Amino acid sequence: MTPQARPGGAVVTFEHVTKRYGPPGVPPAVDDLSLAIPAGEICVLVGPSGCGKTTTMRMINRLAEPTAGRITIDGQDVRDLSAVELRRGIGYVIQQVGLFPHLTVGENVAIVPRLLRWPEPRIRERVEELLELVGLEPGAYRARYPASLSGGERQRVGVARALAADPPVMLMDEPFGAVDPILRDRLQNELLRLQAKVGKTIVFVTHDVDEAIKMADRVAILRRGGVLAQFDTPEAILSAPASEFVEHFVGADRGLKRLSLAKVRDLQLIQPLIVRVGEPRVEVRRRMEVDGTGYALLVDAADRPLGWVDSAELAADGTLTEEEATPGAPPLQPETTLRDALSTLLGSSVQLGVVTDERDRVLGLLSVDAISEVLRPDATAPRS
Ligand SMILES: Nc1ncnc2c1ncn2[C@@H]1O[C@H](COP(=O)(O)OP(=O)(O)O)[C@@H](O)[C@H]1O
Ligand SMILES: [Mg+2]
Repeated sequence: MTPQARPGGAVVTFEHVTKRYGPPGVPPAVDDLSLAIPAGEICVLVGPSGCGKTTTMRMINRLAEPTAGRITIDGQDVRDLSAVELRRGIGYVIQQVGLFPHLTVGENVAIVPRLLRWPEPRIRERVEELLELVGLEPGAYRARYPASLSGGERQRVGVARALAADPPVMLMDEPFGAVDPILRDRLQNELLRLQAKVGKTIVFVTHDVDEAIKMADRVAILRRGGVLAQFDTPEAILSAPASEFVEHFVGADRGLKRLSLAKVRDLQLIQPLIVRVGEPRVEVRRRMEVDGTGYALLVDAADRPLGWVDSAELAADGTLTEEEATPGAPPLQPETTLRDALSTLLGSSVQLGVVTDERDRVLGLLSVDAISEVLRPDATAPRS
């Protein structure tokens, strides 16, 4: 991630933390874990099922208590706070969200501020602000019930609710585990954008190494028995895996995976000829002749892409209509990793993606060639 002022986070440390559920002799769920998570960073805990990720996370907000060792937040032992007090300062997002079905979206987001007895006007303001932050228009969503929302919308409400009291630490346990890959990519991108604004310390659990590499400032790889195999930046884990276990877990395609370290926004985009619905065709033809590529990208009044217009198929006069666009350019976002972008483009007929911002406005085009440049052995970004 780009270095920047990180306002809201706290340092979280594990000092020789062990958690046993069974008697001595049975391998512990977490074994002598020591690590320090810097304030404002996303630390991803990753590893095979049953390796102790969830247990590690739940010890931070004391949903599980360590058998030995200690955990601190900004230097304070979590055991010195009451569990209730502690959990108010820690946002918690789980896979199935756990929204209360009989409460509206607004009431769900307001739960912690209500517990904290904030005055009503301040609560209302905060709910408004949070819904906007996670991309849900307050007027349209505040009064709805969870059952009427899509999976992605529910997940956004879950994140808004976890952020309500502005906690320095957020725990997210496989938050996007239950959604389809396309929505997952969008939610990941949204979380990265959100994090650039709020700068929380986020402990994020996943079993998916690609998700870990994409989301993490630092990755903690755990192996069975709750043993820390490596704690490092994604770059370091890909270029210098600490053991055979890590190498194997990360996968044979480490070279390709390094494409996950770079994002669409890191590459120079191609600026296409852009034409707008309602533009006179005479004018469009003239601009296409000057441009010389033979095609243009048609956008609507809000600059959102509709598809391609081919100069050979352009009717004689009148003005451009929406129906004229041939759709087919896969949509990409600046936060999409080059690895995901490549697989999207290879799966499409056009091999040219349209990059759009958070309001779906066109930023430019990305080609397969531009990505394969990055894979060249002498390429500089990302390091190879
Ligand atoms: N409440 C519990 N009681 C007994 N054993 C548990 C409990 N929670 C987790 N475990 C065990 O601890 C180990 C780690 O579990 P968990 O932290 O859930 O792993 P992960 O999240 O990586 O899949 C597993 O062997 C699991 O069976
Ligand atoms: Mg788990």
